[in-house]
Amino acid sequence: MVNKITVVGAGNVGATTAQRLAEKELARTVVMVDVMEGIPQGKGLDQWQSAPIEGFDSRIVGTNGYDETHDSDIIVITAGIARKPGMSRDDLLNTNAGIVKQVSEQIRETSPNAILIVVSNPLDVMSYVAMKVTGFPRERVLGMAGVLDTARYRSFLAEALDVSVRDIQAMVLGGHGDTMVPLISYTSVSGIPITQLMPLAKLNAIVERTRTGGAEIVKHLKTGSAYYAPSAAAVQMCEAIVRDQKRILPCAAWLEGEYGMSDLFLGVPCKLGRRGLKAIIEVELTREEQDALAKSADAVREPMAAVKL
Ligand code: NAI
Ligand code: 2OP
Repeated sequence: MVNKITVVGAGNVGATTAQRLAEKELARTVVMVDVMEGIPQGKGLDQWQSAPIEGFDSRIVGTNGYDETHDSDIIVITAGIARKPGMSRDDLLNTNAGIVKQVSEQIRETSPNAILIVVSNPLDVMSYVAMKVTGFPRERVLGMAGVLDTARYRSFLAEALDVSVRDIQAMVLGGHGDTMVPLISYTSVSGIPITQLMPLAKLNAIVERTRTGGAEIVKHLKTGSAYYAPSAAAVQMCEAIVRDQKRILPCAAWLEGEYGMSDLFLGVPCKLGRRGLKAIIEVELTREEQDALAKSADAVREPMAAVKL
């Protein structure tokens, strides 16, 4: 375990992330910060009181300031507003950019060596805001989206094939939006190419459902967006870092020539270890997948150019 992991934002994603981090004992102390008075304190105390039942020794602390977050090893940024029905992730752009900027300024001063995992939407642009404002190197700024989008894709495939989710290997790359790119050529069930197990029309319908997976949940919930799978995804990234697992997970990373692109965050296969991003893995893509990734990058560049910092 590491000494301290901070979660900024004690809302649905943030609080669930803090609970999962503590239950997995990934840090001695899990700090939750939010601007809402009493909310992080109340939730933190409630969570800490689950420790004797669940049997974890991580201490959870809630606060409205950054004193308790000093020298965090990892910081998960979930602060912001969430999508309501009919809102796209990009509708959140400038409100959340202001929030992530303010949070990043605090982090720069109080935890200059932290590894950041950005969750706030629009994800790829908020990761850029966090990197730009903190000035942290790309090894220490990652965005969470690909693990979530891939989990949605895998769960839909497992359901359709009536097999264990554990046996579905897959990867969703690109931006965290409707242009994301589930890679059919890298989707398999215990090594069996998916195209041998499912007709293409059915597979395409699952790809489409994956692309709109977030909106499907917003439509049900009406007052907010998904948080159980998103928090599990953020914690999987934290675990890979804390335990130096060298896992290869799809994460938003700052590209410097990989996949023929530069100067933007985009979902790509990343090797994660104790210092954060260890490597970006470049895989061969079909012509169709290359085109889809380029289109997805354009969809990220547009709001990135519009963001006011
Ligand atoms: P929420 O509304 O439940 O929680 C957000 C929290 O942020 C609130 O408690 C709010 O008080 C707090 N906050 C606002 N400004 C703050 C500031 N300056 N400092 C600290 N805290 C601040 O929303 P939820 O569901 O937790 O979602 C959080 C964000 O994560 C949203 O932007 C959402 O779109 C995004 N998200 C991204 C996903 C991804 O795959 N990247 C998946 C799910 C959510
Ligand atoms: C999701 O995909 C809203 O980005 C969030 O659920």
